[in-house]
Amino acid sequence: MYPAKKVMDEQRRLVKKMQVAEHKSLKAREENLNAINRSTQVIAITSLLIVAILITYSITTFNRENKNKKAADLSASAYQKELETRVTELDRKNRELDQLRSMEKFAATGRMASLMAHEIKNPLNNIILSLEHLKDNQENDEMTGNLLDIISRNTNRVNVLITDLLNSTRFLELNFTSASINDLIDETLETAKDRLQLNNIRVIKNYDAGICDVSVDRDRIKIAFMNIIINAIEAIESKEGVIEIKTAAKNKNCVVSISDNGKGMDQKALSKLFEPFVTSKVKGTGLGLTNSQNIILNHRGSITAQSEESKGTTFTIELPFH
Ligand SMILES: Nc1ncnc2c1ncn2[C@@H]1O[C@H](COP(=O)(O)OP(=O)(O)OP(=O)(O)O)[C@@H](O)[C@H]1O
Ligand SMILES: [Mg+2]
Repeated sequence: MYPAKKVMDEQRRLVKKMQVAEHKSLKAREENLNAINRSTQVIAITSLLIVAILITYSITTFNRENKNKKAADLSASAYQKELETRVTELDRKNRELDQLRSMEKFAATGRMASLMAHEIKNPLNNIILSLEHLKDNQENDEMTGNLLDIISRNTNRVNVLITDLLNSTRFLELNFTSASINDLIDETLETAKDRLQLNNIRVIKNYDAGICDVSVDRDRIKIAFMNIIINAIEAIESKEGVIEIKTAAKNKNCVVSISDNGKGMDQKALSKLFEPFVTSKVKGTGLGLTNSQNIILNHRGSITAQSEESKGTTFTIELPFH
């Protein structure tokens, strides 16, 4: 064999060997790469899965919490509504209780008045008759005459007071007819017109345009309104006196409110307002409001008052619909 060929063969064998070695190393690298790819894919898929689970969990939690929140909001607003209904109901019951209390107080006053009238009137009549007899038989003694006149005037005054008290607290025989509340107030204002003008008082009417008809004894109800309006006129001290009268229909009742910007009164005076003989006026009997309350209670209505010193007073009267 030629040495050159031997070298060539040796080189070819070496090349072949190198090729085989390279092929092996390439294959090993490829397998390595494939393994890396596979684990990368596994990691990617696992990460995606984790992200998907986290998103699903977040959405579910959010939805659940949102749902819980909505349910809580709903039950809170239902609870609030129930609470409001209960407060309204409580208000109504309190008003009814106030009304019952004022009726009971009034009934007690009425009982007391009739007892007094009974117990006082008989002896009083005897005194008056005896006085008349004494006056007729007394000789011309000026001093005795004057004294008898004083006794006579005062016994007559007591008699009038007892009669007025009885009239303002007794059960009334009413002559019911249907009437518009607005007309009744207008008629009362017409009667008070001169006194209103004389005192330069502006009357503001805020009447409900809707029909508010009541079944009342017209004359008596007008007396009840009149006492309140006269009191308002007498309470106004400023030059810009205002009396505001509102009417409205509410819960099967006609509601009338009469407000003035007069001197008002403190809570103590307010609590005794409807009691007989309670007066702050030199010539007042203190029976005006007792009488108004009696008339309104006899109509199965109600009368209440609110007042603030130096601001004014509001009377609210409710009368049942016709
Ligand atoms: N609108 C009012 N503003 C302030 N005080 C008032 C008002 N209405 C009534 N009063 C007070 O209530 C008291 C009782 O009133 P009521 O009408 O019963 O008797 P009076 O007005 O004193 O006497 P009369 O009615 O016989 O003239 C009054 O003296 C007054 O002090
Ligand atoms: Mg009065």
